[in-house]
Amino acid sequence: MSLLELEDVHTYYGQSHVLHGVSMDVEEGEIVALLGRNGAGKTTTLRSIVGLTPPRSGSVTFHGERIDGLAPFQTARRGIGYVPEDRRVFPDLSVADTLEVTMARDSPWDHDRIYELFPALDEHSHRLGGQLSGGQQQMLTIARALVTDPDLLVLDEPSEGLAPNIVADLRTLLKEVIETGITVLLTEQNTAFAFALAERAYLLSKGQVTWEGTVAELRDSEEVIGQYLAVSDAGSP
Ligand SMILES: Nc1ncnc2c1ncn2[C@@H]1O[C@H](COP(=O)(O)OP(=O)(O)OP(=O)(O)O)[C@@H](O)[C@H]1O
Ligand SMILES: [Mg+2]
Repeated sequence: MSLLELEDVHTYYGQSHVLHGVSMDVEEGEIVALLGRNGAGKTTTLRSIVGLTPPRSGSVTFHGERIDGLAPFQTARRGIGYVPEDRRVFPDLSVADTLEVTMARDSPWDHDRIYELFPALDEHSHRLGGQLSGGQQQMLTIARALVTDPDLLVLDEPSEGLAPNIVADLRTLLKEVIETGITVLLTEQNTAFAFALAERAYLLSKGQVTWEGTVAELRDSEEVIGQYLAVSDAGSP
């Protein structure tokens, strides 16, 4: 049984039909990338999973139970840690307080472990969220998701808008997180970043899955990359 399974998901924004029958699955311990151009439906797929924009038809199953129709706080409680695209931190809460208020009871991701993994957060633990740099805010949103002790970490374009050296730090950090055995579903336009982390990928185009396979296969397939991903993104890591 897959940890997460989407079957024939159709999602709308009002009258606008955005996802046209998306099916995909994520096995426990896997790192899966959801790739595609601007507007392909990556964020909408994640929003359909976490309950922000529930599917109008089709199903989302997590741990073998239907979660479509659940509210975001409920999917969070079931073990999905979501890091949205806009990486909004609590502007008036310090780093330490942000972690404190979101930390699950008995979370294996306690303060010590988080600060060891994210030295930048340790260094700025008393700084308010609103005073952090973009890269630090991204670290904090990831840390905030981790302390809830999720079974599945869902990241929406984690590298977007960050300076290259910060992207490199983020990649190293996520590799360490992955080594703990957590399951990850991430979207990216930066294919090099996704290729460095993920094992398997789905390509989305106009709200449909147009290709699925291993990252190793995808890396070698210039044709698929050229057809479904922005050509400028097709660099190797
Ligand atoms: N709130 C909304 N209301 C109406 N249409 C929307 C809304 N959000 C997204 N869309 C539309 O849905 C489609 C898919 O958008 P989505 O944000 O899922 O794409 P994406 O793959 O995440 O793109 P990006 O790489 O730019 O983040 C696009 O055509 C977009 O214009
Ligand atoms: Mg998006």
